[in-house]
Amino acid sequence: MILIKLGGSVITDKSRPLSASRPKIAGMARTIARIEEPAIIVHGGGSFGHYWSVRYDMHTAERDYDPKGVSVVKNSMVQLNLIVLEELLRGGLRPYAMAPSGFMAGPRPIPSRVREVAGIAAASEMTPVTYGDAVWYGDGSKTYILSGDKIMSHMARIARPRLCIFALAEDGLYTDMESKRLVERIPAGAGRTAASKLNSPKSGAMDVTGGMARKVAEAARIAGYGIQVALVNGSHPKRIRDAAASGGFRGTLFEADTTIKDRKRKKSKRTASKKVKRRIK
Ligand code: IPE
Repeated sequence: MILIKLGGSVITDKSRPLSASRPKIAGMARTIARIEEPAIIVHGGGSFGHYWSVRYDMHTAERDYDPKGVSVVKNSMVQLNLIVLEELLRGGLRPYAMAPSGFMAGPRPIPSRVREVAGIAAASEMTPVTYGDAVWYGDGSKTYILSGDKIMSHMARIARPRLCIFALAEDGLYTDMESKRLVERIPAGAGRTAASKLNSPKSGAMDVTGGMARKVAEAARIAGYGIQVALVNGSHPKRIRDAAASGGFRGTLFEADTTIKDRKRKKSKRTASKKVKRRIK
């Protein structure tokens, strides 16, 4: 199974409030429809959700945000979601729409519901589709902005896809913004360093979740779960297919970090052999 995030900067025009890029969504839809492996799609907010979140000063931290802001952000995401769903359907996919409230309880994902989403992808011809949103937090009447990137991490940890793909408006991660030299491979374990270097608020005025830095941080987190992550330019949908085909692709690959699992395995082996020795004594 593959988890695919359609970034808000690809599916909308971030320079113009409330403008979806239907042709780009359509291009990605046609490509994803030709991937035979089951997939789950998550999309971002771009010039819809982000635009209104900024207008109502709403962020990822839980607060008592203006209820009108929460409604307006949510409505705008439903609007964008419908556009995405229409294009996915037209492109040959069978989208199964799911609001994040279907699998989130406050700030935490509900494991059984996330597994059910994965089950739908695996057992049917349908592709579950969800999105970043303004979400109920609890603790009085707090809400927060749940980014699509965060949803990717939650789903990856629980549903354990083979691969996560982030379709962005850039080719991937660059060494620097002047040369725009592409970083093709981030070795296992090095992702967090890359993420911390990027931790500058350079994401632009219409971005409440931290833009590229947040994406890299979540990509590094997912790689830490032992799952490969590919960052590709969604304006060139073929790159999504290439990444899914596991061959070479133009973009950035975060290698899966299996050391944590290995360490755990070694530790449990050591404990087991100690127990055996104790028994022999
Ligand atoms: C944003 O989700 C959700 C809202 C602002 C409501 P993301 O943070 O994943 O969106 P993009 O992909 O960066 O636009």
